Amino acid sequence: MIIEPRMRGFICLTAHPKGCEQNVKNQIEYIKSKGAIAGAKKVLVIGASTGFGLASRITSAFGSNASTIGVFFEKPPVEGKTASPGWYNSAAFEKEAHKAGIYAKSINGDAFSNEIKRETLDLIKADLGQIDLVIYSLASPVRVNPTTGVTHRSVLKPIGQTYTNKTVDFHTGKVSEVSIAPADGDDIENTVAVMGGEDWAMWIDALKSENLLAEGATTVAYSYIGPSLTEAVYRKGTIGRAKDHLEATAFTITDSLKSIGGKAYVSVNKALVTQASSAIPVIPLYISLLYKIMKEEGVHEGCIEQIQRLFNDRLYNGSEVPTDDKGRIRIDDWEMRDDIQAKVAKLWLEADTETLPALGDLAGYRNDFLNLFGFEFAGVDYNAEADEVVAIESIK
Ligand code: NAI
Ligand code: NA
Repeated sequence: MIIEPRMRGFICLTAHPKGCEQNVKNQIEYIKSKGAIAGAKKVLVIGASTGFGLASRITSAFGSNASTIGVFFEKPPVEGKTASPGWYNSAAFEKEAHKAGIYAKSINGDAFSNEIKRETLDLIKADLGQIDLVIYSLASPVRVNPTTGVTHRSVLKPIGQTYTNKTVDFHTGKVSEVSIAPADGDDIENTVAVMGGEDWAMWIDALKSENLLAEGATTVAYSYIGPSLTEAVYRKGTIGRAKDHLEATAFTITDSLKSIGGKAYVSVNKALVTQASSAIPVIPLYISLLYKIMKEEGVHEGCIEQIQRLFNDRLYNGSEVPTDDKGRIRIDDWEMRDDIQAKVAKLWLEADTETLPALGDLAGYRNDFLNLFGFEFAGVDYNAEADEVVAIESIK
């Protein structure tokens, strides 16, 4: 069928298989162009199908020739209805990896569940023996705790007082004021339960207890800090509490890995357009201004550039892994540069519906958003019939 973007609110209901394939191929080409990385050889990526997790999988496979197992939660296609983009990304990734003679298998299901953990452990046992890098890159609005059976929903709210600021509807370009009521009830606990470190620790405990982590194994989860502009709704809001918990969990995990000389890191990444971030109020306006400035300064990066730098310059640089005073890896260093933040803060005051098209990079935001779903890629004929039913080679 002919596949076009179909929007509903902040999501796109369709995805283009050829476009997603192009997206993956472009990322692979980028990694190859940067040369080999002396990285891990057996890698588990939890949240491997889109965003930073997909970039981590591609960087491992095509930068270090690593065998990868990818876990994700995506919607398979059915006749007449496209899959979610992460399905097509993973199909394309496996196809390219297998073509290059690189091991790649995938597991589609709820990574928070005991069943999917069991399936993953069994696959590692059967195929790889031990893992030397675990990337934890889940972004989810909901988690069922497998021990208690309780369903937790995360919310994006400030804590203590209502937050009012500008936001943009990036589809229409309309800048307006948004007010977000503060967290109440169990909002904080629930958000921490979904996006904090509990499930990350469960994964590492399960892997370790079955001797599936190699000597010196490393695990990395992704966090965000951002500027004072977004602080009330992000870092000092409910999601920030979850990130605090995630960051604290890195230390607990490192302690638990002492016997095998392993280590857990949190990497603080740059603000980027992903399915997760486009749903957060205020962030799209910030990102469109940030993109404008970072592109002008020649320091703009997407997920793949970020993760290439994380692996090459931080994790596998041949010497000590550089961290900040809280033990975190910082690849948000260019986003957080004083000169860049000062320029963004100035534009923020001036941005309204009339001025934003010139002040910000709304076009870049929209392009990146459509790219998430496989649209707007050069080299793809969007007027041609595309087969929506695409298989992931390792998933039967
Ligand atoms: P994303 O939405 O692109 O990726 C989420 C991944 O998690 C997908 O592979 C999805 O299939 C998987 N997933 C979600 N629920 C699942 C479940 N129940 N079971 C199995 N897999 C599941 O998100 P993105 O942006 O790459 O986020 C990854 C991490 O990076 C998050 O911790 C996020 O907070 C962090 N981060 C994101 C930034 C951004 O600006 N997008 C900036 C800095 C950090
Ligand atoms: Na991800």
